[in-house]
Amino acid sequence: MRLVKFHLSLLYVAGVTLLGHQFCDAKVMMEYIGATGKPVRFNPVPIEHNIDFHFILSFAIDADESAKSQNGKFSPYWIDTLTPESVAAIKKSHPNVKAMASLSGWSLGDKVLRWYNPKNPQLWISNAFTSLKSLAEEYHLDGIDIDYENFLRNNASFAYCIGELITLLKNQSVISVATIAPFHTTVLPYIELFNNYGDVIDYVNHQFYTDKIRTPKGYLAAFQLRATQFDKDKLLPSYEVNGRGIQGDAFFDALNLLEANGFDVNGVMIFSADASSSNDYYYERKSQAFLINSTSA
Ligand SMILES: *[C@@H]1O[C@H](CO)[C@@H](O)[C@H](O)[C@H]1NC(C)=O
Ligand SMILES: *[C@@H]1O[C@H](CO)[C@@H](O)[C@H](O)[C@H]1NC(C)=O
Ligand SMILES: *[C@@H]1O[C@H](CO)[C@@H](O)[C@H](O)[C@H]1NC(C)=O
Repeated sequence: MRLVKFHLSLLYVAGVTLLGHQFCDAKVMMEYIGATGKPVRFNPVPIEHNIDFHFILSFAIDADESAKSQNGKFSPYWIDTLTPESVAAIKKSHPNVKAMASLSGWSLGDKVLRWYNPKNPQLWISNAFTSLKSLAEEYHLDGIDIDYENFLRNNASFAYCIGELITLLKNQSVISVATIAPFHTTVLPYIELFNNYGDVIDYVNHQFYTDKIRTPKGYLAAFQLRATQFDKDKLLPSYEVNGRGIQGDAFFDALNLLEANGFDVNGVMIFSADASSSNDYYYERKSQAFLINSTSA
């Protein structure tokens, strides 16, 4: 009896060690959620246990309700069905889940949001740090995603302010993960950010669906281009549900083509859970099956 118990606990320890190891090498899912006003929830989203699953709450915005900028003071504007309690609950039931807040997005109501070059960058960074720290504590966040989508002609302070902000949030252990979400017309300021602060940026959620690509071959060409601008191992293929770019199972043909051409598909980004609720999360299920399959291959 005792012997059996001993062996079981040894196995258990070995299992934990093995799981711990797999977790480090786990593929990632990035799932935007909460941007469209639909009363969406975490629970129905399928989550495989051997995937590092990130919900990206959309969006935290440096603006008041009339879209007036607040000098770095971010407030949550994702749908209010995504409560702090529901974040805590989904993380408790799925230890492989992380929650992030995406900064900015395209617009607030009918007002387009822009990177606006704060007059005092140090004050902006300090305000952003303080407001995001309290948001992270309230909502149990593990990270931030950078999704500024509109720039004026001079983006001089973007890379500096955002890079220093991420560095500080990580240094103070407020966050453990940071991602960026460029798209085809915004790659320049993001390349500057990545060149100067790439060591604190974990993944690049490039919005390939804005590259107007419809075929797997076109997808491969776009991925090859973005891989030269960012780090190929941090670059994630992405899919817009009911949206632009490549659609349907051609996306999975594109993923296979990437692997056939020597790229490691380390994760998938999907925009967004709001749209996927209408098709029973087909792309989330199939993406995770693909990632698990390619891990064991
Ligand atoms: C934070 O920054 C300080 C000063 O550069 C450094 O000594 C320290 O190791 C950093 N801590 C973390 C957790 O990165
Ligand atoms: C600022 O960003 C825009 C949009 O990506 C780009 O067209 C422009 O060249 C950038 N300017 C500078 C100075 O980086
Ligand atoms: C899993 O991999 C096998 C062998 O490469 C392939 O035939 C199959 O289609 C893959 N399944 C998925 C869900 O990607």
